[in-house]
Amino acid sequence: MQEPGASNHGFQPHFPHFGTDAIHAGQEPEQWTSRAVVPPISLSTTFKQTAPGQHAGFEYSRSGNPTRNCLEKVVAALDGAKYCLAFASGLAATLNITHLLKAGDHIICTDDVYGGTNRYFRRVASEMGLKISFVDCSKLELLDAAITPETKLVWIETPTNPIMKIIDIEGCAQVVHRYEIILVVDNTFMSAYFQRPLDLGADICMYSATKYMNGHSDAVMGLVSMNSENLYKRLTFLQNALGAVPSPFDCYLCLRGLKTLHIRMKQHFESGIKVAKFLEGDPRVEKVIYPGLSSHPQYELIQRQCTGCPGMITFYIKGELAHAEAFLKSLKIFTLAESLGGYESLAELPAIMTHASVPKEDRQELGISETLIRLSVGLEDVDDLLEDLEQALKAAHP
Ligand SMILES: Cc1ncc(COP(=O)(O)O)c(C=O)c1O
Repeated sequence: MQEPGASNHGFQPHFPHFGTDAIHAGQEPEQWTSRAVVPPISLSTTFKQTAPGQHAGFEYSRSGNPTRNCLEKVVAALDGAKYCLAFASGLAATLNITHLLKAGDHIICTDDVYGGTNRYFRRVASEMGLKISFVDCSKLELLDAAITPETKLVWIETPTNPIMKIIDIEGCAQVVHRYEIILVVDNTFMSAYFQRPLDLGADICMYSATKYMNGHSDAVMGLVSMNSENLYKRLTFLQNALGAVPSPFDCYLCLRGLKTLHIRMKQHFESGIKVAKFLEGDPRVEKVIYPGLSSHPQYELIQRQCTGCPGMITFYIKGELAHAEAFLKSLKIFTLAESLGGYESLAELPAIMTHASVPKEDRQELGISETLIRLSVGLEDVDDLLEDLEQALKAAHP
């Protein structure tokens, strides 16, 4: 057995059986009459009944689909969960989870989240009678102080996006579970390979599977894992009642992507550390924030909570917006684009791109300035990536 941290940069050891589950869980060939080893893409929208109301587990593809079922089973196994449900996008997953609440209920959302989550809570959910507070949940005393009798859901993302603060999941669970509050962790950045929120006391683990879980930037999808039967029953009802389900083809793509999740994440971690160290040593860079570096202020917490780090790096380039723009426009291998977690390296400017919908004063307070650049380090040869960063830094600071 591997000693904690023996070959894993001091992080927790990886979850046992992960690669085996990613390849086999929920995908037993015996479930198909053909014994197909690769789960078939089941396109049929409807399924034959032997008598009214009597069927072999599937009636209509919105309420259940064989390819989607396979995906839900494997993700549940990877999250150490009893149940998982798949949705048409990460935001569709957020929408369904929010529908667990009713008008007048209060949501606490951590202050530094994906811009679309912020926009949904601020501009859609609040219009429908829900009360929303944005709180720095990395400070448990602030979370505790923000809870009211109406609080029904706490939404955290860790590491936070794009500032990379680490939130203590176990600590949050202890605070919120003194009350009847659902703790949701958006686990998109870490993926099931590096972090298991349910093991740490969260009630729901949610993903934009568009990112690392699928990993190939070719499907938009959301995933929600949980252990509570009550939550599962209600979310199964909502999955069908709201109808934001993924297509069988996208489920197939995600099933395929998951088979290499453990291999991909190891490489993202190795390359991420090299890129972060390179940037940290560069005089044209003001500051690097990477949870896998010992310079991260919460390094001890992340090593305790996770089994590694993804390829997400945030850094401030010296200068002003013009320098950030020159850097981003000069990149040749990193593509200037939103999103993250694919095999290809991406770079973006959150203040103008992914987080433009966050109010300006909030961005300023969080430190999302016009010189803050977010990298998603992909799976290309890391020496080529370092060379690309070097030439783009040179273009920005001749
Ligand atoms: C952390 C995080 N959560 C949720 C989402 C929303 O997911 P989707 O784009 O699949 O709707 C995103 C999208 O970028 C994200 O980065």
